[in-house]
Amino acid sequence: MLRTHTCGELRSTHVGQAVTLCGWVDTYRDFGGLVFIDLRDRYGLTQVVFSPSFAEIHEIARSLRNEDVIRITGEVVARPADMQNPKLATGDIDVRGRQLEVLNKSKTPPFFPTQPDLPNEELRLKYRFVDLRRPAVQQALILRHKMCKATRDYFDERDFLEIETPMLGRSTPEGARDYLVPSRVHEGCFYALPQSPQIYKQILMVAGYDRYFQLAKCFRDEDLRADRQPEFTQIDVEMAFVQQEDILSTIDGLMARLVKTLRGAELPLPLLRLTHREVMERFGNDKPDLRFGLELTCLGDIAKECDFGVFKTTIANGGRVRGFCVSQAADKYSRKQIDELTAFVQQYGAKGLAFFRVKDGELDSPIAKFFSAQHQQEMIARFNAKPGDLLFCVADTFKVSCAALSALRNRLGKELGLYDPQELKIAWVLDFPMFQWNDEEKRWDAEHHPFCQPVEEDIPFLESDPGKVRAQSYDLVCNGYEAASGSVRIHDPAVQQKIFNLLGISNEDAEARFGFLLEALRYGAPPHAGVALGLDRWVMLFLASDNIRDVIAFPKTQKAGDMLTGAPAPVDLRQLRDLHIKVDVPK
Ligand code: AMO
Ligand code: AMP
Repeated sequence: MLRTHTCGELRSTHVGQAVTLCGWVDTYRDFGGLVFIDLRDRYGLTQVVFSPSFAEIHEIARSLRNEDVIRITGEVVARPADMQNPKLATGDIDVRGRQLEVLNKSKTPPFFPTQPDLPNEELRLKYRFVDLRRPAVQQALILRHKMCKATRDYFDERDFLEIETPMLGRSTPEGARDYLVPSRVHEGCFYALPQSPQIYKQILMVAGYDRYFQLAKCFRDEDLRADRQPEFTQIDVEMAFVQQEDILSTIDGLMARLVKTLRGAELPLPLLRLTHREVMERFGNDKPDLRFGLELTCLGDIAKECDFGVFKTTIANGGRVRGFCVSQAADKYSRKQIDELTAFVQQYGAKGLAFFRVKDGELDSPIAKFFSAQHQQEMIARFNAKPGDLLFCVADTFKVSCAALSALRNRLGKELGLYDPQELKIAWVLDFPMFQWNDEEKRWDAEHHPFCQPVEEDIPFLESDPGKVRAQSYDLVCNGYEAASGSVRIHDPAVQQKIFNLLGISNEDAEARFGFLLEALRYGAPPHAGVALGLDRWVMLFLASDNIRDVIAFPKTQKAGDMLTGAPAPVDLRQLRDLHIKVDVPK
């Protein structure tokens, strides 16, 4: 070892010892006489002092610049009381340099790891080796490591086996585009990188590996957002001879373990359980942020009778009029700001945003005149509104009112600081609909994926009213994110075939795409169920970060590029020829 201690280790108990440290020059201060160097490694910072009495190394110390890599040997000394730095773990001591070796000089980096103002993200990702030296990034990767370790321990203690599944395989239907890998040997054929290990893990159940988990890499070519990467990691889980309840309680236990390990806190179990129908009614969103209120209230009966045309016709057309009450916000939003909020909800398809200030026991609004005194009183009571509150309402189809009001709810919750960003509010959302009507393609799509078992009592509606069929599927939501998703699987090939047919996947098509799964289901498939947690999202949540790139060592940009290596990149013509590929990029 080139060092005796790390840069985060020395305390006053080490005073008098000779130590050797290695690290990067974080800052240097040259007072002509004494030279102070803050030496940094991933464990912390230690201040090293070089005095002119050691002329040779003093001269070298004066030549040091940011991010040079050095090795120093010296004596640990106590700092005078007035020089101690309580903000630094090593702030009680200095190391007096006696030997100094420059292990490597550094070019002047484009930014410094501990500078307070961050440069733009593109630059940081290009110089990720410098960016990764930032303490915040290091903390994220350390937490990620601890989460993986705690997860593996938790499942190992419960007889789960971590089994790797292939990266080069067949397409798995999670609804995104595949990343394809051309085969050299099988001319014109492609592997698909897994969107998830879904099919393999189900086959493992058929094979009798009744408790499986994996920290699995998944690849999805889809539009990227702040919580999505083209390449991400799932904590993937599957169990045989279980019911929904067993998956929920197993994951409850995992969450409690993670909260205990990473936050040192107790998570009360069981986790809250809500149905899909309930969260859509109360929050307009299947991944509600439960850290704050602003719950939706239905005004259908009042809207039907009032004189405001938009409300009346919406109800007459089978739509919904809903809204929420923002406590003591009447004076917080000017007319201009409300116009801006109106434009905001319009992005989600709403035609407008009705608002009412509660004032002197009545409603104050440009449209208040359309509501009788009695209706106004009913509305105030319905919202449990107090003087000074502000009411927002949207009249539209159920779908649009959900989208618009939940977006507004999330925006106001954040804007008004209605929650503690560190808090984790975790809940299960159960009983998702099995199918979703795809209006463009005029067909039913699987809401989760086509392997979910319908709720038993809804099976009779499979043919007559597919929209009514609920799946035995569940999401774990936290702070407005979908942080896990899973279901009880179909283990009866006949039911599986029926679902494929309903989704417009013909028998031939189903055999061609998933024949290997259907065949496996015919060879003694046990009842099974599973779930996958988004590992990256959970690291984000534990760090209260809203950028998934913060928690991945080498993330991709919004355009799925790697700024550091320049991937994706053109390849040699010869490589393409080997793969029987001709590139045809439109000009
Ligand atoms: P699903 O597609 O819902 O389910 O994925 C499970 C969880 O993975 C996370 N996730 C992502 N994280 C980062 N970037 C992405 N692009 C991304 N996509 C998904 C989310 C999500 O909840 N095989 C099924 C699971 C099962 O049924 O067992 C599946 O993959 O947190
Ligand atoms: P208008 O009659 O279009 O001038 O709208 C009067 C008020 O009602 C404005 O504040 C609009 O934003 C609001 N409004 C219009 N359409 C809707 C709707 N579908 N839902 C809620 N409010 C609406």
